[in-house]
Amino acid sequence: MKVLVTGGLGFIGSHTVVELQNEGFEVVIIDNLSNSSEDVLKGITTITGKTPLFEKLDLREKASVQDFFKKHNDVAGVIHFAASKAVGESVEQPLLYYENNISSLIYLLQELQQKPEASFIFSSSCTVYGQAEKMPITEDAPVQVAMSPYGNTKQIGEEIITDTAKVTNINAILLRYFNPVGAHKSVEIGELPLGVPQNLVPFITQTGVGLRQELSVFGDDYPTPDGTAVRDYIHVVDLAKAHVIALQRLLSKKNLSKVETFNLGTGKGSSVLEVIHSFEKVSDKKLPYKMMPRREGDITEAYANTDKANNILGWKAELSLDEAMASAWKWEQKVRSK
Ligand code: UD1
Repeated sequence: MKVLVTGGLGFIGSHTVVELQNEGFEVVIIDNLSNSSEDVLKGITTITGKTPLFEKLDLREKASVQDFFKKHNDVAGVIHFAASKAVGESVEQPLLYYENNISSLIYLLQELQQKPEASFIFSSSCTVYGQAEKMPITEDAPVQVAMSPYGNTKQIGEEIITDTAKVTNINAILLRYFNPVGAHKSVEIGELPLGVPQNLVPFITQTGVGLRQELSVFGDDYPTPDGTAVRDYIHVVDLAKAHVIALQRLLSKKNLSKVETFNLGTGKGSSVLEVIHSFEKVSDKKLPYKMMPRREGDITEAYANTDKANNILGWKAELSLDEAMASAWKWEQKVRSK
């Protein structure tokens, strides 16, 4: 069965392609290489023994999207990762984010609605909850006003899909990720951030290899046990597996409604200091860091209630923070040794 993975050469996309191929799906990737490299195909091939089909295409080009679906008219399901994801950049260039993240989604759905049936998995984010009132966060926690255009594209994306599914043959699952980290155990694929990493784990591993002098810990005065902010760090391989399960759920018509939403996290919150300590443990290195003021727009804590994902989707995160940090560290060392 053929599955389209947009953004399939990116961080989460590439790990998902591996899990799909391991489960016997035929994968076709669309990627515009704006934040990825064609070399990722080699990593996927080494791990799985299969090279996915690849079309270099920009989803903002409506005619190209139409041509793609004419050529690949046997696509049974779509997992849509392709999107810009830098929060700061989205504040500076909102229209770039709205055009890229929203028009691509609309063009894909316009093609899918012409099919007798279509299964669509959407890459959403726990950012839609803002600072939720109650921890751990359940899927029915209210969606709050977005703090950035990036966050807003996730909220608007969810709404567009929900409105469209109501009146078409599209069934969809919205996956709200917490904080994806780590790399495949083979270290053939992993995260490749452009420029200075904004996210915690790549900044830590780059500091570990000496590419950055020290980590700035953004805020030590949060109302948390050690004063640093708390997040739910989920291993990217666990996250990838959830996409395969979600797709199988739609393809086998086990979904209970046209659109379902699941949190994807471990259920465990870890502070910035705990992540640093995990890194120090698995790398046997001291990480240089200094305490700095809070980063604007950051929340105090976010971790998932995973009951719905565990009991209804039938998926559970299995890998620990230490395993995620160890794989991220191995990956960083491999990338820098090239
Ligand atoms: C960030 C985005 C969020 C997005 C998510 C996707 C912001 C404000 N939020 O979430 O919208 O969905 O990435 O990956 O950018 N930290 C440091 N020093 C650093 C980097 C981070 O102390 O150099 C801290 C942060 O303050 C935060 C934690 O580490 O408490 C995690 O940060 P990060 O990896 O950027 O993720 P989020 O802020 O949760």
